[in-house]
Amino acid sequence: MKLNIKKNSLYLAPMAGITDTVFRTLCKKMGANYVYTEFVSANGIIRENKKTLDMMDFTEFERPIGIQIFGETVEVLAKSAEIIRERFSPDIIDINFGCPVPKVTTKGAGSAAMKNLDIMIKMAESVVKAAKDTPVTVKMRAGWCNDQIISTEAGKLLEQAGIQAITLHPRTSKQRFTGTANWDLIKDLKENVSIPVIGNGDVINPDKYVQMIKDTKCDGVMIARAALGNPWIFKQIKDLIETGSYSEATVSEKVYLCEKHYHLLREEKNETLCLNLTKKHYSWYLKNFPNAAFWRTKFMQSENLYDIESVLKSMKRELI
Ligand SMILES: Cc1cc2nc3c(=O)[nH]c(=O)nc-3n(C[C@H](O)[C@H](O)[C@H](O)COP(=O)(O)O)c2cc1C
Repeated sequence: MKLNIKKNSLYLAPMAGITDTVFRTLCKKMGANYVYTEFVSANGIIRENKKTLDMMDFTEFERPIGIQIFGETVEVLAKSAEIIRERFSPDIIDINFGCPVPKVTTKGAGSAAMKNLDIMIKMAESVVKAAKDTPVTVKMRAGWCNDQIISTEAGKLLEQAGIQAITLHPRTSKQRFTGTANWDLIKDLKENVSIPVIGNGDVINPDKYVQMIKDTKCDGVMIARAALGNPWIFKQIKDLIETGSYSEATVSEKVYLCEKHYHLLREEKNETLCLNLTKKHYSWYLKNFPNAAFWRTKFMQSENLYDIESVLKSMKRELI
């Protein structure tokens, strides 16, 4: 099936340990057009590991959604794509060719595939074949290291392999998150392929979104870190495009979203996970917040959900 991507769409990036159904739903409500699961191990999928399979559950509200996979062999990736198509029917299967974490790359998965274009393309072809009518996309980096920048060359071959869109985070794998994303490579990729190119990397505010579209002519923009504690970014970008301005989330909006996020986590997760994820997300929500250190300490010291709820109550009483 052909992937129909609306020009200038906004994408919530896959983020391990973060883009679960709760966070995806919140971002979707704020205006993200496409959301992705975190990367899911193809090996875990074919071994039917319950925790791995659970990572791919999503609600109809989240559509269009991409399930992202990583794996070290052509066969395992293909088999996992078949299982995903049959059991989950996502709108997109995305292959992770960007993860720089050694635990993943030492086995040949993630960005390690970019060290060998031949294997990378075989992986892509096998997933496209196994996914049948489910569109397959790729998320990749600029290359393995500075003297192996291959994003444009890889992009052309990926298009021939049947990949329907490419997200480029133009840092090398070796760079991890240091330095800056080289947006010239997004522009170069866009000029050399006819499938949609989604730009990613260092879009930290709505103005950067406008700048990335203008500088690279990319078809859409994917946002990761700037959405942490600020899922409003998707709405802010839309406001900027439609009205020429946008506003930051108010303290009340932040408090209400903290509460909502917590309630959604409580419905979805067990107590320990709910507690840990609440603390994780609150540390982001509470940035640039009145008396941030005080509230953050209160939440971090919470030992159970009862503690979280009572801090939430006093925060509401004092700030709203
Ligand atoms: C905590 C965290 C987890 C991430 N997990 C994934 C992942 O599972 N799959 C993936 O393709 N990229 C992952 N990334 C990379 C992001 O999707 C994105 O490419 C990168 O952060 C650059 O975008 P940004 O400048 O908007 O943050 C992760 C990034 C962060 C910060």
